Amino acid sequence: MIRATRTLVCFLATVAVLASADSSIEANRQGDKQPAVYPGALVHAPRPLPDRVVLTWRGDPASTQAVTWRTDTSVEGAVAEIAVANESGRDLEPRTVSATTTLFESDLGAAHYHTVEFVDLQPDTLYAYRVGDRANWSEWYHFRTASREPHPFSFIYFGDAQNEIKTHWSRVFREAFRESPRAAFTLHAGDLVNDGNRDEAWGEWFGAPAWVNATIPVLPAPGNHEYRKVDEKTEGALRLVSRHWRPQFALPENGPAGVAEVVETAYYVDYQGVRFIALDSNLRQEEQRDWLRGVLADNPQRWTIVTFHHPIFSPARDRDNKALRELWKPVFDEFKVDLVLTGHDHTYARSGDVSSRVRVGMVNVKSGYQQAYDPSIGTVYVVSVSGPKMYDINGGDWAVRAAEDTQLFQIVRVNGDELRFEARTAVNRLYDAFTLKKRAGQPNELIELLPAERRRAPAGPAGPSK
Ligand SMILES: [Fe+2]
Repeated sequence: MIRATRTLVCFLATVAVLASADSSIEANRQGDKQPAVYPGALVHAPRPLPDRVVLTWRGDPASTQAVTWRTDTSVEGAVAEIAVANESGRDLEPRTVSATTTLFESDLGAAHYHTVEFVDLQPDTLYAYRVGDRANWSEWYHFRTASREPHPFSFIYFGDAQNEIKTHWSRVFREAFRESPRAAFTLHAGDLVNDGNRDEAWGEWFGAPAWVNATIPVLPAPGNHEYRKVDEKTEGALRLVSRHWRPQFALPENGPAGVAEVVETAYYVDYQGVRFIALDSNLRQEEQRDWLRGVLADNPQRWTIVTFHHPIFSPARDRDNKALRELWKPVFDEFKVDLVLTGHDHTYARSGDVSSRVRVGMVNVKSGYQQAYDPSIGTVYVVSVSGPKMYDINGGDWAVRAAEDTQLFQIVRVNGDELRFEARTAVNRLYDAFTLKKRAGQPNELIELLPAERRRAPAGPAGPSK
């Protein structure tokens, strides 16, 4: 009898517990107890442990390597250790290099950014390094110095990441890295984030590549979203590059002399036979044109690739950038720049031979007809987007290949006299591909690798294409 009563009590208690769990699940479903969003200030709070570790170059990629990382402000004597990598980590014989530390106040609070530049490195050598404060260390990362000679390599180019970076950009970055895990570096043509002064945005941007930024360097150009007004409320207020930019990216200071605004936003790096030139299309464009002419006139590299944010050929008629085109294009033409990599228009568009579609008098930019691809020059212009924000194409007859609503990354492989360019979608589908071939005394040969798009030649009287 007693046993039967206990069994009944136990049964009733179990039913009560299950009923109570059911009602609490139901209450949650009905929104009585919604989970709270974990605050950005906590998600992105710095700690004594290094985070946001990122490789960049300040000097020659064959003999130097800069690394920057972040900690909380308790870390004072930050250092890096470096050694030639070997098969047995415990046998590394590192040397220690002291960091330069910058106190940085973001909208989420204070942090320390630490930078070390490793110098006197051997070319084409795999190094192991770690960063820390002698008590709290990162893991050992690897990087490889550049070869002194032209040597085949690839790099990954991204248009605007900018929005919902954790949610939607991370998969693009990771597909790109899976496609080209031995890439020498990643190149970012501006609008890395949507608000260059928001620490949460940068936290997401560093979160997507994670350890990859500590292993292959980053080569960034600033977009308009990296520029913010000093005083947000005042019309026409001075705009300056994101306060994060210089503390977190240690970039070459070889831009236009005496133009303080573009220090570390306009620069060049020579890598295994290619001169990479980053321009800051946001401001001081005239001074950069003069500097660019000098950098191109005195260029021992076989290939020249220029990157900046605002395209000088746009896939949208209402975004035509005539002033910048008139300013910079003559210099690109004069020195037959091989490739111009841009972003800003949140679409894909790539120049090439559209002669079969072009009619005499056709207008494809507001300022009048200009053929973006001129076979007597050979420069190829690209607009791309890697993040999820998308615009319309309502122009762009100059492009042989274009896309709307498609997140993309690009793999560029340079091998002697050949440069192979591939645009791939977020699901790693090949979307565009061409080869440039160097020819003695002639402009590059442009070889299309995919069948031509099925597009109509513009119809009707000469005038703005519909
Ligand atoms: Fe953008």
